[in-house]
Amino acid sequence: MTDVVVYENGPLLLRGDFTLRTPDGEEIDPGRSTVALCRCGKSAIKPFCDGTHKAARFRAGAGRETPAPRSGEPE
Ligand code: FES
Repeated sequence: MTDVVVYENGPLLLRGDFTLRTPDGEEIDPGRSTVALCRCGKSAIKPFCDGTHKAARFRAGAGRETPAPRSGEPE
């Protein structure tokens, strides 16, 4: 089982059994079973969060009103 925790103004925390891959399908070894994935785009170690979102004052949006996901491949 994999848990994904969406931090309000920070990363996505993945915990459990998961596989990270590049868009080409190459596996990324996270080296651990819990990782934080950057959501702000400012990390120097993407796809992982390095804490820069705090200095960048990343704001994901207000409240819990989350739009429905789009179908298909990400852009
Ligand atoms: S979410 Fe933490 S550096 Fe981007």
